[in-house]
Amino acid sequence: MQIREDFPALLASIVRAAASVGHLKMCCASGRSARIRDAEHRKTQTEQLIYLCYSPARFAEERGCSAQLGNARETGSAWICVTMIDDPLLLNDWHVVAQSTAMQTGEVGPARLLGQDLVLWRSNAGLCAWQDLCLHRGAKLSSGRVERDCLVCPYHGWNYNDDGQCVRIPAHPSMTPPARARATAYRVAEKYGLIWACLGEPKTDVPCFAEWEDAAFRKVLAGPYLFKAQGPRIIENFLDVGHFPFVHAGFLGDPGHTEVGDYEVETTSDGIVARDIGVWQPDPDGTGQSAEVKYTYRVLRPLTAYFQKSYQDQKFSIFSAVTPVDERESLAWLILALNYASHTSDEQLRAFQDVVSRQDIPIVESQRPELLPLDLQAELHLRSDRTAIAYRKWLAKIGLKYGTA
Ligand code: FES
Ligand SMILES: [Fe+2]
Repeated sequence: MQIREDFPALLASIVRAAASVGHLKMCCASGRSARIRDAEHRKTQTEQLIYLCYSPARFAEERGCSAQLGNARETGSAWICVTMIDDPLLLNDWHVVAQSTAMQTGEVGPARLLGQDLVLWRSNAGLCAWQDLCLHRGAKLSSGRVERDCLVCPYHGWNYNDDGQCVRIPAHPSMTPPARARATAYRVAEKYGLIWACLGEPKTDVPCFAEWEDAAFRKVLAGPYLFKAQGPRIIENFLDVGHFPFVHAGFLGDPGHTEVGDYEVETTSDGIVARDIGVWQPDPDGTGQSAEVKYTYRVLRPLTAYFQKSYQDQKFSIFSAVTPVDERESLAWLILALNYASHTSDEQLRAFQDVVSRQDIPIVESQRPELLPLDLQAELHLRSDRTAIAYRKWLAKIGLKYGTA
C-alpha cells in the first residue's frame, strides 16, 4: 500500500473537519495525483466511516456521487464531500428498503438508503441490514452469498456472522479474526410486508397503518415506484386532489368535475389530518365503478402519508412510504387496503395503481425547483392547497432539511 508522506497530516485535518460536520459519512482528500493510489477506511470518534483517497473526481465517479461534489468544501489541504443525506430527521427515522418476500432466509441483496449502500440478508435468526462494505478490501457484501448462516464476501471469502462479526478468514483459517473486523449494522424492522431500516437511532416506531391489522381489509402491495425526485415533492403530490382531473382523467378525476370543495386541516404533534375532501371519480380504485368519494389524508412522518377514501360502506386506503434513496432518486412503496371488490384481483388493483403512478411520475419529476419551497411566498397557494400548505408549515416546524428549500 502506497501512502503519501503527508498522509498523517492529511488524515488529521480530515478527521478534524469530519468532527465539525455532524453526520459526515464520507470524505475525499485531494492530491496531485489524478488516480487513486490508496483508499483507506477509518473510523472517527463518532464511528462515522471515512473514505480517504487522492482523487475526489475519480472517487466521485466510482461512487456515483458527482452531484455531491458541488457540496465539497476545502478544509486545509483536504476536500470534504458529504455524499450521504445527512438530515438528522431522516437518519433517525425508519425507511422501507425492500419487500419482505424479496428476502427469504439465506438470501442476500443490495439496497440504498440516504446515499448509503446497504446489504440486506436474512440469517436463520432474522434480518440484517449492514453497510455494504467488506472491512478487508471494500468489496460489496451484497454480491456475496450466505453459507452456514454467515454472509460470505465475494472477494476473499471472509465470513460474517449475523452479529456483523467476521468469524472466519479463509486465507488464515486457524486465526481468530480481529474484533474490529465487524460490519456496520443498522436497525432493521419488518412490518406490513415491508423491510424497514434506520441508519441512526429511531425516535419513533414504524408509522401506524391500522388497516393492516383489520381483517375486513384486503391488502395489496404496489410499487416500488422510482421517482427521480426528492421525497417532499412526492408526498405533496400524494396529498393533492386538485390534479386528479388533469393528470388522472378517466381514473381519479374528470375534467367536468374540477372544483375542490372546502375541507378542514388539522396539524397535531403527530402530523397532519385533512378530512372530508369530496371528489367525484370515474374509477376510484380500478373496479370501474364511478363514485363521489370522501378523502381523509394523514401525514404520518415527513415522508410517509396515508389516505382513506370512502363511498357508503366502501373504504379504500393507501399507505405510502417514500424512501430517500439518495439526493436524486426516491422509491415510493404503497400498500393498498380495501374492504370491498373481492372479485377484483390483486393484479388488477396493482395494475391500476401502476397506471396512476406512471401518470404522476413525469409531473413530479418536472417540478422546479426540485426542492419543496417551505417559504409560502415562493409559490402560489389556493384554498384547495391547504393540505400542502399545512405540510410545508409542518416540515418547516420540525426542521426537515432534505428535499426542501
Ligand atoms: S474484500 Fe471482502 S474478503 Fe477481501
Ligand atoms: Fe396523482
